[in-house]
Amino acid sequence: MPEKGAAPLPPDIREVLFDETELEEVVKRIGGQIARDYAGQKLLLVTVLKGAFIFMADLVRAIEGHVEIDFMAVSSYGDGAKSSGVVRIIKDLSVSVEGRHIIIVEDILDSGLTLKYLLKNLKSRNPLSIEVATLLFKEGKQQTDVSCKYVGLICPDEFVVGYGLDYNESYRNLPYIGVLEPSVYA
Ligand code: IMP
Ligand code: MG
Repeated sequence: MPEKGAAPLPPDIREVLFDETELEEVVKRIGGQIARDYAGQKLLLVTVLKGAFIFMADLVRAIEGHVEIDFMAVSSYGDGAKSSGVVRIIKDLSVSVEGRHIIIVEDILDSGLTLKYLLKNLKSRNPLSIEVATLLFKEGKQQTDVSCKYVGLICPDEFVVGYGLDYNESYRNLPYIGVLEPSVYA
């Protein structure tokens, strides 16, 4: 595993921002918090594909208690590195969320526009409660006020990839989160 500051990294990755150990710790912390907050309750994790799939896979194993999972896929970026602000549902949930405690599991909160749309959409389906867990939170980038109860790591304003996050569908398989060379998307 490439460590911070140690070579070799793929040529398009400028640096490792969060390594596997840091990611493991943060997932354990959030999993523990969620388990405590929902003790004795049935919980549904609504995973936002594709970026959050690895985070969810690790998170669900860090939560003790009754937990179910489902998936939604949305598109807000097109093929590039900038949020278009227009969110499209590509795949909807396969279960009803009515009367259920749900947590939306996101990879990264950037402008917040995707999450704003998702919260509005899912609230209209009358869940009992709705919260958000995001692995990464890009500091100072939010264009809208969305409350996020579970936040993993604060991320600088860079385009990051790995651990599920992509650029043009690449780099999702990196076991760490790294900063993409700006020349790749400039
Ligand atoms: P937002 O609508 O601007 O908050 O963007 C949210 C979505 O855009 C995230 O769920 C990601 O899928 C994607 N995204 C935002 N920033 C990054 C990044 O730095 N790397 C990879 N994907 C990103
Ligand atoms: Mg996403």
